[in-house]
Amino acid sequence: MAEPKKLYIKTYGCQMNVYDSERMAEVMDGYVKTETPEDADMILLNTCHIREKAAEKVYSELGRFKNLKAEKPDLRIGVAGCVAQAEGEEIMRRQPMVDLVVGPQSYHRLPELEAKSRAGQKPVDIDFPEEDKFEKLKGRPKASRGPTAFLSVQEGCDKFCAFCVVPYTRGAEVSRPVQQIIREANDLVERGVREITLLGQNVNAYHGEGEGGTWSLAKLIWELDKVDGLERIRFTTSHPNDMSDDLIEAHGTCKKLMPYLHLPVQSGSDKILKRMNRSHTAEEYLKLIERIREARPDILMSGDFIVGFPEETEEDFQATMDLLEAVKYGYAYSFKYSTRPGTPAAEREQLSEDVKSERLSRLQEVITRHQREVQDDMVGRKVNVLFEKPGRLEGQMVGKSEYLHAVHLQADGLKAGDLREVEITESGPNSLRGQIA
Ligand code: 5AD
Ligand code: SF4
Repeated sequence: MAEPKKLYIKTYGCQMNVYDSERMAEVMDGYVKTETPEDADMILLNTCHIREKAAEKVYSELGRFKNLKAEKPDLRIGVAGCVAQAEGEEIMRRQPMVDLVVGPQSYHRLPELEAKSRAGQKPVDIDFPEEDKFEKLKGRPKASRGPTAFLSVQEGCDKFCAFCVVPYTRGAEVSRPVQQIIREANDLVERGVREITLLGQNVNAYHGEGEGGTWSLAKLIWELDKVDGLERIRFTTSHPNDMSDDLIEAHGTCKKLMPYLHLPVQSGSDKILKRMNRSHTAEEYLKLIERIREARPDILMSGDFIVGFPEETEEDFQATMDLLEAVKYGYAYSFKYSTRPGTPAAEREQLSEDVKSERLSRLQEVITRHQREVQDDMVGRKVNVLFEKPGRLEGQMVGKSEYLHAVHLQADGLKAGDLREVEITESGPNSLRGQIA
């Protein structure tokens, strides 16, 4: 048999891309993964378009592979993901050494595209095809897996927040059918997975076809709850307007559903929320959190914020700071607004970089303090830890609590995939330390 060729994939951006990269590696028969681009026969950049100058960064990253390609003309270089979707053929115009371009909806066609490129063509596939990429990918031989995995259940977004490229790069909201998801979940569990994170750009808007009609995310979670051997369920990312009653209730009643919720609000000012096209107010968001906390008092909230959106005044920013204090997030991600070509807010008058930077640092100061306090509050508590891998020190294991805090532990005989009750003894800069309870 011929030596397998080597595939190097570099993944940028969200968890959806991590998931897509895994699928692309699986679909490339005849290839094994490598961690070093230097010995690869194919290099694939799975790109993200959400951050500023994303395309420019991809072009400069590609530039780094120029020498490799010159030394090894057989090397295939591909660009996948959201920058591929947005830029299309422009990528080959700017970087002629790129052999193929594939969008997030067409990656099941990667083997064909690779074959075409080896035959001297320069294929660009950024279609939104009729056939279902997930169905095309099923039934492939699969290696055993670590204890945690992502499972994509929904893709795309119809919300059109004024700052966001997702509705353009990932397209309209589409949900996978229930049976497909359950099959994939069972398959993951057979391969050693204990925790599944359901992924979607708008995951709580899930409305997949199942027995008897259209299923909500909550109904899907209850079905996954029945999968033997699956211990933990998470989902991300949610929109406040799709936080339905049954999903809130599931947080209180479904034991496998972890007490962690990523629910971005972006701003605390109603004026800015309106300009962002978020279609909810700060008060509605706070009421929602109140209801979620009634259902599950210990839930750890996580969020996203954008500062310096066009027309944001100091008063608007203060409203965001007030909301931050009111919620006290266990984790929060914050960004300076930056323009994305083709989105409505990009056309508006922009705030100065100085104002944005100054507000971001004030916001992050509070976020960091809250994260710290929430994490420190874990000391003395008993949490459940799913162990994932050995730590840096001899005999150490690292895992995640139900609240998604990293927990380090010295213990003999623990292995990846073990779930243990752990008493937290110490809170460090980025993780907790504990002992088996
Ligand atoms: N500028 C700054 N932040 C953005 N995000 C999305 N688009 C932009 C933008 N144009 C942030 C939002 C979103 C997160 C994934 O990235 O907070 O929730
Ligand atoms: Fe982007 Fe999320 Fe808004 Fe959709 S809901 S447009 S993915 S920020």
